[in-house]
Amino acid sequence: MELHERIPNNVNLSGDKRLQRALEKWLPNYLEWWREMGPEGFQEKDVWLRTAVSVEPEGWAHFDYVRMPDYRWGIFLKPAEADARVGFGDNAGAPAYQEVPGEFRNALRRIVVTQADTEPASVEQQRRLGGTCPSLYDLRNLFQVNVEEGRHLWAMVYLLHKYFGRDGRDEADAMLERRSGNPDKPRILEAFNQPCDDWLNFFCFTMFTDRDGKYQLSALAESGFEPLARTCQFMLTEEAHHLFVGETGVGRVVRRTAQLMKQSPGEDARHLGGIPFDVIQRYINYWFSYSLDLFGGEISSNAADFFAAGLKGRYQERKKYTEHLLREDSFTLTVVEAGRLSEREVPMRNALNEVLRGEYVRDCERALERWNKYIAEEGVEHKLRLPSTRFHRHVGEFASHNFDFDGNLITAEEFEARRDGWLPTLEDREYVQSLMHPVTEPGKIANWIAPPATGIKGKPFEFEYVRL
Ligand SMILES: [Fe+2]
Ligand SMILES: [Fe+2]
Repeated sequence: MELHERIPNNVNLSGDKRLQRALEKWLPNYLEWWREMGPEGFQEKDVWLRTAVSVEPEGWAHFDYVRMPDYRWGIFLKPAEADARVGFGDNAGAPAYQEVPGEFRNALRRIVVTQADTEPASVEQQRRLGGTCPSLYDLRNLFQVNVEEGRHLWAMVYLLHKYFGRDGRDEADAMLERRSGNPDKPRILEAFNQPCDDWLNFFCFTMFTDRDGKYQLSALAESGFEPLARTCQFMLTEEAHHLFVGETGVGRVVRRTAQLMKQSPGEDARHLGGIPFDVIQRYINYWFSYSLDLFGGEISSNAADFFAAGLKGRYQERKKYTEHLLREDSFTLTVVEAGRLSEREVPMRNALNEVLRGEYVRDCERALERWNKYIAEEGVEHKLRLPSTRFHRHVGEFASHNFDFDGNLITAEEFEARRDGWLPTLEDREYVQSLMHPVTEPGKIANWIAPPATGIKGKPFEFEYVRL
């Protein structure tokens, strides 16, 4: 088989024998990991999947039936811009880094490794969901997300192998050794160690946790380390579909709940096998808060260093901003001081995690508004809400304190006493789990979720997206 068949790429892999050998050695280990930790029970089935085949805006993807182990995981970077420059920070205006600058090597490795680790982690988290799919359409979307997270791992492993020498090779191997949720060798970030074992979890995960990925990738797509920027720019093209799966997935559950409420005496969705809004709300609270942690501490010297070095910018740094130095600016944020909430002004560069988190929160609010519109359309009076960004945090300023849903400081005892109202209970999870029965007849859908508005890529919902 030709190299380009085995590892599709636009990085002239055949012109770099050392790299080619390294990736060809990594390939069988990756496939072994995929067979062991990838989607359980469907490896031999034909799935109608999108495969990245180039980086042309028109026609970058090819749709066809493919068995997942035969998916052509490839390495694609957005084409290089002529005369690319570092876009921000202390070296703004200097030629973009084509190799890893020695003084930033550790920082960059850490950035790449942390991002890379999330990709296989999510595949592991989602590996058993196929067995309880609500429809063939959803089953296909799950697998689409899974194979593309696999491709994202390839994209990041390419960077590790090509630019980080021996350390990079070791890090690439470690990607296949850690396991989501395993206490002895966990994945790096906590959201990626949380179980994702029912479809409401899956939709919340792709809505809230993949959306963190969008913002991290967008910040890295601005990077002065050009190979990283170009890699992330192309990953974002695929990521949009993952967010679509999450946002419309939760939206369809929400709509169905409202429909079932209207049909049920006393507006009790549970009565007709739906997922009540209070359960959905608790799932939202859970995934939103864990995903906020992924942005890092509110006040962060790492964020300042990454910006100063030109490694990690703001969301749409070049498009949205004209001032790219941030030497004099400051940012006022809320902190806990002497047992109460107060405002503190910090240098802007130190607050960039919080700035990125703010972009993310606004994006989430937009989705919540849309879901609430669905509820109103069905004639039900109810509003879903996002909790305060201080609620249920495990990283940053608020991690060592307790807050209620609205962000008021409370005691640990009070939090524990009210926890079951805010976060999914065992009973919630068991109830949702009890609804999860596979529906695999083309055109049919589980009772707890509404069908999608349209199918994929011009195909109808009834299309046989997975041949079982
Ligand atoms: Fe990804
Ligand atoms: Fe994703």
